[in-house]
Amino acid sequence: MKKTFKAFETYQNHNGDFKNKIAQKNFSDLPKGDLLIKVEYSSLNYKDALSSSGAKGVTKFYPHTPGIDAAGIVVKSNKTNFKANDRVIVTGFDLGMNTSGGFAEYIQIPSSWAVRCPDSLSTKESMMLGTAGLTAGLCIEEIDNHTPINNLKVIVSGSTGGVGSLAVKLLSLLGAKVTTITGKKNSEQYLYDLGSSKVINRKKFIDSTRLPLNNGVYDAAIDAVGGNILSSMLASMQYNGIITACGNVAGANFTTSVFPFILRKNRLIGIDSATCSKPIRDNIWNKFSTFWRLKNLDHICKMIDLSSLDEEIKKMLRGEQVGRIIVRL
Ligand SMILES: NC(=O)c1ccc[n+]([C@@H]2O[C@H](COP(=O)([O-])OP(=O)(O)OC[C@H]3O[C@@H](n4cnc5c(N)ncnc54)[C@H](OP(=O)(O)O)[C@@H]3O)[C@@H](O)[C@H]2O)c1
Repeated sequence: MKKTFKAFETYQNHNGDFKNKIAQKNFSDLPKGDLLIKVEYSSLNYKDALSSSGAKGVTKFYPHTPGIDAAGIVVKSNKTNFKANDRVIVTGFDLGMNTSGGFAEYIQIPSSWAVRCPDSLSTKESMMLGTAGLTAGLCIEEIDNHTPINNLKVIVSGSTGGVGSLAVKLLSLLGAKVTTITGKKNSEQYLYDLGSSKVINRKKFIDSTRLPLNNGVYDAAIDAVGGNILSSMLASMQYNGIITACGNVAGANFTTSVFPFILRKNRLIGIDSATCSKPIRDNIWNKFSTFWRLKNLDHICKMIDLSSLDEEIKKMLRGEQVGRIIVRL
């Protein structure tokens, strides 16, 4: 094993600005933990973009290595549930928040944060999905438990982003009729290729929706952005509709009234991928490795190494990312 390893590091310079660099780390720099993992792949999620730009709600102490996702091989285990050479996936909990994260060649974590990578999924495929896939999967599982997805009219926001792209792909595989909302010009073909049957411009969707109740059109919704979009989605659901809320890139606050709930029996369900239990995670990862298996994931993924991460983070903060960024360690 090497004496030092490479890690992406966010630090605060003497002007107080947050900057990123590639650093050489010692193994003694890693936090205490039962599992030492050689990271093979990580992926970029919105929370990483926040952590690497100094968002104190995500990361309190710097210098810090972000990366809420990691997949790789167990090097050393102090617990019986994993042994050396096991392939594992680690997403969420405190990884990449205040625990040194997946944008590094090694992580050290409590073994309760890891799940076994299903045999038929490579560590690379698991990170093409990553937290974004787990989150899309959790949303779709909630919808499917409420009403079978086949032929369901589902609307997705933030649809060209990580969570959105994977949600559209999976919904389409399961036979839903998917409408996508996007703020990006020229992204129609990308969304049709994912399986969307209708694309609506973000501003048009907001401007054309009467609040608090519009025409009821959709049976289900996946909202990755919050703010006005969530208000408009809530106004546009059919009777007995279900809305899964997982993101806040457009804002943490939204306006609604009791009417979507007491007149249309709508349900608003919150989604948390970071601390959901191991059986819930195992269920979603096993589904992705079997009957939720998504083809052509490479069409929506860009593979990079640590040296390109800074520019991809900046693009994500500008709301310009399309699909998923996979980091090869
Ligand atoms: N609850 C959970 O467990 C969980 C897990 C993962 C992620 N999340 C959250 O889900 C959200 C999406 O994460 P992600 O990793 O998919 O990020 P992402 O790849 O950056 O995608 C976000 C997408 O939202 C849209 N968007 C950007 N700025 C916007 C704005 N100002 N108003 C409206 N839409 C905007 C863009 O898509 P279009 O241009 O196509 O509109 C963008 O591609 C984030 O808030 C993240 O924190 C939550």
